Amino acid sequence: MSDRVALVTGSSRGIGRAIALRLAEDPEVGAVAVHYRSEREAALDVVRLIRRGGKRSTAIWADLNQEKNCRRILATAEQRLGRVDILVNNFGPFLMKPWLEVSSAESQRIFRGCFLSALHCLQAALPAMRSSGWGRVVNIGYHRVEQWAAFPGILPYAAAKAALLLLTRTAAAGEAGSGVTVNMVSPGLIRGGRMPRGTRIPARFLGEASDVAEAAAWLASDRAAGVNGANVIVAGPWKM
Ligand SMILES: NC(=O)c1ccc[n+]([C@@H]2O[C@H](COP(=O)([O-])OP(=O)(O)OC[C@H]3O[C@@H](n4cnc5c(N)ncnc54)[C@H](OP(=O)(O)O)[C@@H]3O)[C@@H](O)[C@H]2O)c1
Repeated sequence: MSDRVALVTGSSRGIGRAIALRLAEDPEVGAVAVHYRSEREAALDVVRLIRRGGKRSTAIWADLNQEKNCRRILATAEQRLGRVDILVNNFGPFLMKPWLEVSSAESQRIFRGCFLSALHCLQAALPAMRSSGWGRVVNIGYHRVEQWAAFPGILPYAAAKAALLLLTRTAAAGEAGSGVTVNMVSPGLIRGGRMPRGTRIPARFLGEASDVAEAAAWLASDRAAGVNGANVIVAGPWKM
């Protein structure tokens, strides 16, 4: 079988791009929708690479800071590719700023981008997944949230990613037995990403986007049918 359809938010570059390309290599995936906001050419490049590999693909524009656009990208992907079986909520903006200086507008932007966009995309995707009896949702988190530590330089980001973990577990519990799983992959510092000031990288570990993509592809497959509500941390020795 090679007809599953995936949608990866923020897949014009970075980790999302790596996930879209990795999912397209999966024999069970027949089509991948590539979502972008401003980098249309970069998104079309990902589409071309996927098509060259023999799979269907389309680029979909959306500013996911607006709730209606979350419903719209799901509807557009379904219209162009037939349906959406796999949703990867990868878009999640980062903000590094001392917490006492963070404005309300900045906090809201991070919360909308990291939490609400995933919530609204998930709400839009679930009914069709449920009625087909199979679905995979993978949220992209942040490796330190489960430490419940102090995050003075990235407080709104860490709080929004912690909320995303609660969403992951809430949705996973709600979907139990339906054939739909909801999991999270939480990267450490990935090559090209930004690091909170004063942070040391244990054992000089710097992850690759492909490490995160591999974990996401596993969770999005039948091989992870028994995994639900999990947070797979892809951060090498960061937590040790
Ligand atoms: N990089 C790291 O080291 C690291 C570490 C831990 C967790 N993470 C998490 O991993 C995920 C991917 O991170 P990344 O560093 O690969 O991201 P990135 O390179 O900054 O990519 C961001 C993606 O989001 C899209 N985007 C930007 N603003 C948008 C908006 N308003 N609406 C919709 N899409 C928008 C961009 O599209 P355009 O380019 O078309 O504008 C791009 O495709 C995020 O959830 C991040 O929090 C990253």
